[in-house]
Amino acid sequence: MSDLRVLILGTGGMANAHAEAYAAMPGVTLAAGVDTNPGRLLEFNALHRIEHGFRSVEEAIAWGRFDAVSNVTPDPVHHATTLALLAAGKHVLCEKPLATTAEDAEEMARAAAAAGVVNMVNLSYRNVPALIQAHAMVAAGEIGEIRHFEAAYLQSWLTQDAWGQWDEDEKWLWRLSTAHGSMGVLGDIGVHILDFATYAAGGLGVRDVSCRLTTFDKAPGGRIGDYVLDANDSFAMHMALENGAVGVVHASRMATGHLNDLSLRLFGSKGGLDVRFEGGRSILRACLGEADMHSGTWREMPAPEVPTNYVRFIAAVRSGAQVLPDFARGAALQRVMDRAVDSDAAGGAKLTV
Ligand SMILES: NC(=O)c1ccc[n+]([C@@H]2O[C@H](COP(=O)([O-])OP(=O)(O)OC[C@H]3O[C@@H](n4cnc5c(N)ncnc54)[C@H](O)[C@@H]3O)[C@@H](O)[C@H]2O)c1
Repeated sequence: MSDLRVLILGTGGMANAHAEAYAAMPGVTLAAGVDTNPGRLLEFNALHRIEHGFRSVEEAIAWGRFDAVSNVTPDPVHHATTLALLAAGKHVLCEKPLATTAEDAEEMARAAAAAGVVNMVNLSYRNVPALIQAHAMVAAGEIGEIRHFEAAYLQSWLTQDAWGQWDEDEKWLWRLSTAHGSMGVLGDIGVHILDFATYAAGGLGVRDVSCRLTTFDKAPGGRIGDYVLDANDSFAMHMALENGAVGVVHASRMATGHLNDLSLRLFGSKGGLDVRFEGGRSILRACLGEADMHSGTWREMPAPEVPTNYVRFIAAVRSGAQVLPDFARGAALQRVMDRAVDSDAAGGAKLTV
């Protein structure tokens, strides 16, 4: 197996998950780290035993000794850096959300298609066995036609400090500020639950949305240093899918009691599915068949392990076959999020996607 060289762009919190995943794969070398913050770069490279470090994507591209990239920079940095990497012919696994507007995300999807490289968005909950099994059961018609669904992504880092101090640490503060490119909880974790729900419920095919976004008062004058805390902290959305299903999707950073939990309930004409990722555990339950539907009985279902996005990305780079979720999927999700923001600005109006 030929050696495959991966660059890590952005060496903050999430980059550790990428580096650890690649380090565990035979035939993959962590070629270099890139970060505008020299201290963070040094620490990261030392921790993951990476030989080369660069202060910008341009310097790394000029060096050029890598095949593929994990782009783990903050959301507003994805667009320009990914376009530069695609122009250099590199395969890219980009963090979510793909960009901060649908226009930028669509440009990235077009550039990736034109470059003919592997492009993937790290919608990491595609690693949850219960979700993949639910998707397969829906596709096989096991719950009939889906009429209704409900989905939630619950975090609580604004009410407790299990992940550090949100009001001190830069990595939480940029997520609270639109001037720093954040689309709030909608862009940060909403993108995951929108993917989770629509992937299982039958593809993106979103007909319309109506959405309310809320930003809570969190600091005197609504700011901390350079960070104006104006990005949304909570959203509640109604959506109608092209297959006729309707549902509610919501997410919050103030869901006290939940560190990082996702849930999806799908109700079909022939059964129901309950998909959970709670406390890091994947759980699938189903109510199937006349007797269980009649008595409202739910049973736990087996769900086989699935490979991570990192493993699937590297396999795609090796085989040359495209892999999902790709940039086109990232752009489609971005269109839904843009319409959700427009809907909120119009008082929660129903808008066609
Ligand atoms: N898939 C997931 O489950 C998941 C989880 C957490 C974060 N994320 C995503 O990962 C990305 C990074 O999040 P994080 O929590 O690691 O943030 P972070 O702030 O901890 O790290 C980002 C790093 O990028 C660096 N950076 C900024 N601009 C740069 C540039 N132009 N070139 C090179 N480096 C640059 C920063 O100095 C910082 O070290 C975000 O897009 C976030 O949404 C995804």
